[in-house]
Amino acid sequence: MTIATLASNYDEVIPRDLHFEMTPENVIRHWFNGDPWTTHWMNAILAAVPDGERWVMNSARRQLSRLTHAGVKQEARAFIRQERIHAREHDEMNASCVAHGIPIDKCEAVFKVIRETFQHRLSDDMQSSVAAAFEHFTAIISSVMLDNPDMFDKTNPELRAMLYWHFVEETEHKGVSFDVFIDASGGGLRGYTLRTSGMVFATLVGLPILIGNQSYLLYKDKQLTNIKSAIKMGKTLFFNPGIMRKTLMGFFPYFRPGFHPWDDDNKEIINVWKRAFEQTGDTHEAFRRLHDHSLAQRVGTQESSNPLRQSA
Ligand SMILES: [Fe+2]
Ligand SMILES: [Fe+2]
Repeated sequence: MTIATLASNYDEVIPRDLHFEMTPENVIRHWFNGDPWTTHWMNAILAAVPDGERWVMNSARRQLSRLTHAGVKQEARAFIRQERIHAREHDEMNASCVAHGIPIDKCEAVFKVIRETFQHRLSDDMQSSVAAAFEHFTAIISSVMLDNPDMFDKTNPELRAMLYWHFVEETEHKGVSFDVFIDASGGGLRGYTLRTSGMVFATLVGLPILIGNQSYLLYKDKQLTNIKSAIKMGKTLFFNPGIMRKTLMGFFPYFRPGFHPWDDDNKEIINVWKRAFEQTGDTHEAFRRLHDHSLAQRVGTQESSNPLRQSA
């Protein structure tokens, strides 16, 4: 039986210190295609992002001195820099939501209390395991978004550019927390037990926070009884593209003893964005090329019709 090993195929983890205009004009009240329920589902996750990013980067930082693998140590440092920048940009995005009267700050404050409570009680290895689990969820959600950029056709271009920069970098570093955990904990049977416990813990803590945050934000936005929007969100989460369905499908493989996040190799799609960004330095253009590529993949031709391209 193979018990999880480090990735041997590191590509690159590049911190890109980008700044986006996360103003209330760009981050409108129902920024996800004008749909309240889907917007607040995303807001419920994003409420935990700035502090969650700081938690996962702190848990990696605490393990740095114990890492034996030079490649993992190098990637862990790059990962910490990436997450620090993500937290900064999402702080601004969340502040714009607050400016619209959406009390994400209250959700953030509750998450911070929960995070501090566990941070003081869990061992470094367990925190590292929980970080790997949260990063796995983030990677799955990012993967679905990368494959379905047309979901954001009606979203503000600056906000869309910020989100896709984040989805790309989350994918770039999707194996890092996992490898930090394996390297620091030593893997083996103890590592497997800790790793799966961390996933159970992250699920039991994360799911109620997600449901609680969304319910609270919908209530404060007077949208709880918007059945039409609830049905629309249900379709997005469970049918097309099925973000939650695919998250569930990605949950169980994590319990395989030989699992590694890069078993699902989706470098191709992020390389489209990365190469475009290297060439142009423009996150909007990088998004457009990723959008083109994704749609072309879906229809099986490089001649896809792209409303964004036509209107550009
Ligand atoms: Fe991040
Ligand atoms: Fe991350």
